[in-house]
Amino acid sequence: MSDAESTLITGIGELVSNDGEPNDGKPNHGQQGSFAAMAGAALVIAGGKVAWTGPASRAPAADAVVDAAGRAVLPGFVDSHAHLIFAGERSAEFAARMAGRPYRAGGILSTVEATRAASDAALRANLRRLAAEMLRQGTTTFECKSGYGLTVPDEARGLALAAEVTPEVTYLGAHVVPPEFAADPAGYVDLVCGPMLDACAPSARWVDVFCEDGAFGADEAAAVLAAGQAAGLHARVHANQLGPGPGVRVAAEAGAASADHCTFLTDDDVDVLTSTPVVATLLPGVEFSCRQPFPQARRLLDAGAVVALATDCNPGSSFTSSMPFCIALAVREMGMTTEEAVWAATAGGARALRRTDIGHLGVGARADLILLDAPSHTYLAYRPAVPQIAAVWQAGSLVAGDVP
Ligand code: NIG
Ligand code: FE
Repeated sequence: MSDAESTLITGIGELVSNDGEPNDGKPNHGQQGSFAAMAGAALVIAGGKVAWTGPASRAPAADAVVDAAGRAVLPGFVDSHAHLIFAGERSAEFAARMAGRPYRAGGILSTVEATRAASDAALRANLRRLAAEMLRQGTTTFECKSGYGLTVPDEARGLALAAEVTPEVTYLGAHVVPPEFAADPAGYVDLVCGPMLDACAPSARWVDVFCEDGAFGADEAAAVLAAGQAAGLHARVHANQLGPGPGVRVAAEAGAASADHCTFLTDDDVDVLTSTPVVATLLPGVEFSCRQPFPQARRLLDAGAVVALATDCNPGSSFTSSMPFCIALAVREMGMTTEEAVWAATAGGARALRRTDIGHLGVGARADLILLDAPSHTYLAYRPAVPQIAAVWQAGSLVAGDVP
């Protein structure tokens, strides 16, 4: 469909709109928004945006008509946390974990070695394969981090490749201290905050740091975020993944958009997440793949925090690109309702990326949407691991699946 044409999708059994999301261009502060859905609905796409929604009986005419035949339409998933620039794989490490070995941040270094040795073409091909895999599963926006290069040229080329496929590019030079700096971690932080940042900032929108024992402490993390912000980047943080720690506090003090993982939270951390605009982004693929206790989504939601869901797709701790899988885990293992989980995977991800144009299907939103091969959003958790994405539109163009 070209931008000049309009498309009416009618006969929608359940239209999940998350309408009422702030769409005023202001930063997304405040409370968890609300899931909203309408039965017997229709939606019009024009100019790459949602032009109209309402009861099918009152739908206006359009150039093309798609009959959803009672199926559900949802906003495209917003995967706000993924590490897709890497080479190699770590299935043996996964198998060893399943045989009882714990997950440690050190496994990252084997991917660093493979990534440094890979050609640009190999990295680009892997990145594009994963991006296509995401799209087929309904993800219409994804964030992509560096962090497996850890030299100036390797981080810079990774981010340049990421910028070819998404605007949500994150500089994660502070993923771990690479082996050549093992005796001089302060020297590595200086590199990350200096020449590496200079080379990476032009390709990136975000700066991230893995704030954890075995990676970077509170002061180092704060320094990395401050340097990134001085270079025009916005902050997000890997926080409280492997144990309690300062990550959530560091994220709040930096004014970060999101604290990601949030698996081990104290009451103080929960207070921080409810009293500041920091989104708590939960990544249940990690706990699944590392056989760890899941993050306490119910505790966060009941306290009033804003919760997002994302895959953390990476070759170590969570090699899934499936947002439907994360929704199913969040519902079954984390006490989220089906409505909360779908909101967190769409509007929540948009909040975590400070985007107002995606994650909802209000009039004026980017026409990123999914036709589900099922009558309601509930089926995403009710039929786990079953492919149910019938079609995907991105900015109004049909990009995956087909329609009658
Ligand atoms: O988000 N926590 C740090 N980084 C990744 C894991 C990366 C890896 O194991 O390769 C994560 O889980
Ligand atoms: Fe991560």
